[in-house]
Amino acid sequence: MLAALFASLDPLNSVPPPVFRRTISRYGDRGGRATPSVRGGGAAACRSPRAASRCGANDPRRPGDADHAQIVPSPRLLPWSRGVGRWPHRPRGPEGRRADGTASRRPRGGLGRGRIRPRERCPASSARAHHLHGRRVAGPLLRHGWRRAQARLRRGRTLHLRRRDAHLRAPSSLLVRTHDGGASGEPAHHDRARRGGAARTDRGRDRRRRADAALPERKLDVLHAQFRVLPMTGAGAGDAGGSAGEGRYGLMDRRDWLRLGATGAAALGLPACAAWEGDAPSAELPPLEAPAGTGDADWDDVRAHFLVEPGTAYLNNASIGMPPRQVVDAVAAGYRAMAELPARGRSDLSARIAEHVVPGLADLFSVRPDELTLTRNASEALHLQSVGVALSAGDEVLITTQEHPAGRRPWEFRQVREGIRVNEVFIPSPLPPEAEILSRFEDAITPRTRAVSFCHVTRGGHLYPVEAVCALARERGLVSLVDGAQAVGQFPVDLTSLGCDAYSVSLHKWMLAPAGTGFLFVRRDARDRIRTAFAPDATAEQPQFGPPGTAAFPVRAAIGTAVDFVAALGLEAVEARCRHLSDHLKSRLAEVDGVTLLSGARDRSAPGSTIFEKEGLDAVAAVGAIEASISSHIDEHQRDGHNAIRVSTHIYNTTEQVDRFVEALAILH
Ligand SMILES: Cc1ncc(COP(=O)(O)O)c(C=O)c1O
Repeated sequence: MLAALFASLDPLNSVPPPVFRRTISRYGDRGGRATPSVRGGGAAACRSPRAASRCGANDPRRPGDADHAQIVPSPRLLPWSRGVGRWPHRPRGPEGRRADGTASRRPRGGLGRGRIRPRERCPASSARAHHLHGRRVAGPLLRHGWRRAQARLRRGRTLHLRRRDAHLRAPSSLLVRTHDGGASGEPAHHDRARRGGAARTDRGRDRRRRADAALPERKLDVLHAQFRVLPMTGAGAGDAGGSAGEGRYGLMDRRDWLRLGATGAAALGLPACAAWEGDAPSAELPPLEAPAGTGDADWDDVRAHFLVEPGTAYLNNASIGMPPRQVVDAVAAGYRAMAELPARGRSDLSARIAEHVVPGLADLFSVRPDELTLTRNASEALHLQSVGVALSAGDEVLITTQEHPAGRRPWEFRQVREGIRVNEVFIPSPLPPEAEILSRFEDAITPRTRAVSFCHVTRGGHLYPVEAVCALARERGLVSLVDGAQAVGQFPVDLTSLGCDAYSVSLHKWMLAPAGTGFLFVRRDARDRIRTAFAPDATAEQPQFGPPGTAAFPVRAAIGTAVDFVAALGLEAVEARCRHLSDHLKSRLAEVDGVTLLSGARDRSAPGSTIFEKEGLDAVAAVGAIEASISSHIDEHQRDGHNAIRVSTHIYNTTEQVDRFVEALAILH
């Protein structure tokens, strides 16, 4: 029945034997002692007589025998094995030749050789290393899993491989974990530890067999593999792959999480997944959850996730944020994956971006995934949104006097190239009340105005009434374009209810993503007014806003880790913590002679950024002096007619760091 199920799920089941085949045999169950062995590759996978004998090609028992369980690739998930990928599938003969006699073009040692090299065959590797396709995999886990598989087979039982976990898109390692009866989800390394490590050692087959026999019945999950189990026939075959039809194909989240973000998985308090050794969750990291309060002690555990050197107070988060440890690890793991197996590494990372990163961002900012385009930063997104608006010579665009150059330059570019006019509306600093801001915008709109372009939060930390300005723009039939570089990650932002047509984001500031990340949001029903700058064949369904070409996949994939990190805390908690620190700073600044606060009240200032002037103190000189004296990083804000200092505090800063800064400031002249 299950065979039928698999067949029905996979219409290509009947194609010639897949390139990869892993056979787990149980010998001697009709009398003699069981002697488990793992054999790599079936006839179709073998390249040489030696390989053929090693992989069991000459074994008279063929798939479907009562004492065989096979793990074979899903042709559906290995595009090249069904003739649509780079390496069209053809049945292969034992001499590296296809069955039709032509020479194989597949590079030796490339994907698809499907061979596990246990330790004995890999003397150069560390004691517990196994290799598959040249990739080091978790030896203990792997052996542990194989042994469990073999033990079950010897006992006439079947393997429970969940199809969801066995989704396998590219040839790779097989990584398994075992856990009791299915409910615990306990990683295999815990399991090993509990058993005192006897079975994990490699001190001889007898010992392993004894350990296997002593184990209770267990379930085996495949965490990472490109194989699936074909149902056995005969005794014990009934439930092989029993849940196979329930899962979903092609989900990368679990595997990718394992690979790229596993360090953070445990730390984030997400379901614990075993990963291979390089990705093992760091024991020192406390679990990540929203702290109960806003005080320093409440955020101690969160602070432990950051790598900043002790003694350094980084108070310049509006410039660039500090990614937490797991984001740094995810970037490194991504580059490693691409260096080890470029093609597969890249496709895995792309899948993670499409299936985890973009949906995660869309969820956090309340938009549809197809409304987001990843960019390198806010500047790139701002350029794309500005040049995308259809304008003719003489048309006008309204910006404010507080725009960042990244929000101003694209319009100046169009002014020079296309003859559009850029008008500026003067917005004072500190920020006036909302009604005054709105009336300033209203007064500046002319019959030729076509678009308004302004910040959600300025680089000085002023918080604009963005919903009201967007509503005004809509009323007047204008395109509204927002610079959200300083907003996202500091407080919850619902892009849909803001009502803007486009919104540009930096993810490497308050969102704690790796440097070189951002996105552009274009509302779906604004696609007739904002178009791509690149693709002549773009349509409303495929707007193609993103620049073409190779992206920094590992960096982009690691955005997902940052999103998970922030989401685990909750943006409300981040806002409250940032507000706590800036409130503390403001109250301490009030004690310093000559200080004038330029940041407005709560409804007009961002939670984390504070600007102020100190009489007689040059802001640029102060930045250097503070860094040299107390190793605190701040920024100057000599603009809008001010000689101001900017202090931007994020969740990991402390009131003690703020105090230290204020004390140093007090004695600076
Ligand atoms: C308001 C504002 N817009 C845009 C940018 C540019 O951001 P990015 O460096 O991500 O391009 C900045 C950077 O500080 C900014 O403060």
